[in-house]
Amino acid sequence: MITKKLSNGVEIPMIGFGTFKIPNDQVTEAVKSALKAGYRHIDTAAIYRNEVGVGKGIKESQVAREEIFLTTKCWNDDQGYQKALDAFEQSCQRLQTNYIDLYLIHWPKPLNSETWRAFEELYQQGRIRAIGVSNFHRHHFDELMKTAKIKPMVNQVEYTPRLTQKPLKTFLESQGVAMESWSPLMKGKVADIELLQKLSKKYKKTIVQIVIRWNIDTDVIVIPKSVTPQRIKENFDIFDFRLSQEDIEAINQLNKDLRTGSDPDNFDF
Ligand SMILES: NC(=O)c1ccc[n+]([C@@H]2O[C@H](COP(=O)([O-])OP(=O)(O)OC[C@H]3O[C@@H](n4cnc5c(N)ncnc54)[C@H](OP(=O)(O)O)[C@@H]3O)[C@@H](O)[C@H]2O)c1
Repeated sequence: MITKKLSNGVEIPMIGFGTFKIPNDQVTEAVKSALKAGYRHIDTAAIYRNEVGVGKGIKESQVAREEIFLTTKCWNDDQGYQKALDAFEQSCQRLQTNYIDLYLIHWPKPLNSETWRAFEELYQQGRIRAIGVSNFHRHHFDELMKTAKIKPMVNQVEYTPRLTQKPLKTFLESQGVAMESWSPLMKGKVADIELLQKLSKKYKKTIVQIVIRWNIDTDVIVIPKSVTPQRIKENFDIFDFRLSQEDIEAINQLNKDLRTGSDPDNFDF
């Protein structure tokens, strides 16, 4: 397992299992498959409405809770000091845990500095091992830092060969904030990119494995989602190769600033 040390010393596995759009009745089996395949990092969110199924999957897997790095997120309607504290307790209850490894503000709008105050308190109480944000452009980050006492340890954003986010990535590196990528497979569309097809042949790995490895080799934590047991295994089978610096650069050049999801500045509430 490859891990990354966050700014507070907590280790996060560089590959995790995404669960967006997996309903409660399927996610338990999916989480169990992922844990069986070797994943030790699961990403969910209150808005995915599958925390109950994720918690059940963790319990039924027989893998000890302390061995699993569990992320969940505070939804937009729950922003504000007391609302965020309440949302955190509800997520813990649904997930059958009394602590969260990484708790994220899901979207910056409406950004509420009071939400972060609640995060900081829970962090200081030891209920959250690392606190972070998601979908933050640099200007959202700067705004948060006007009142924050603790700097976010992670920013989870869209990052793909078509959206390499170079200025944001450089900024986060300069701040010691780990970058984590969502929809890393462009929801399956990476398969259409010609260079990735060539690299797949060169490395004798699938296109998806090339993309997952490119995330890790560019120091970005990656959380591919699948409900298909074979793909869950395939996506984790990326520890036996590395991309050359030249090939990493070639993938970086595929950038078109193209989003498959919402731009945080235009997210429709
Ligand atoms: N913070 C945020 O705002 C935010 C936003 C979006 C996502 N996320 C997180 O990021 C995770 C990943 O993003 P995502 O779920 O949107 O999309 P994704 O991981 O980029 O792509 C998932 C899609 O790719 C398919 N797939 C997976 N492995 C494959 C393989 N080996 N070969 C071919 N196809 C494959 C899946 O199909 P099957 O499932 O049918 O196998 C599914 O249709 C989410 O699950 C969630 O945890 C966070």
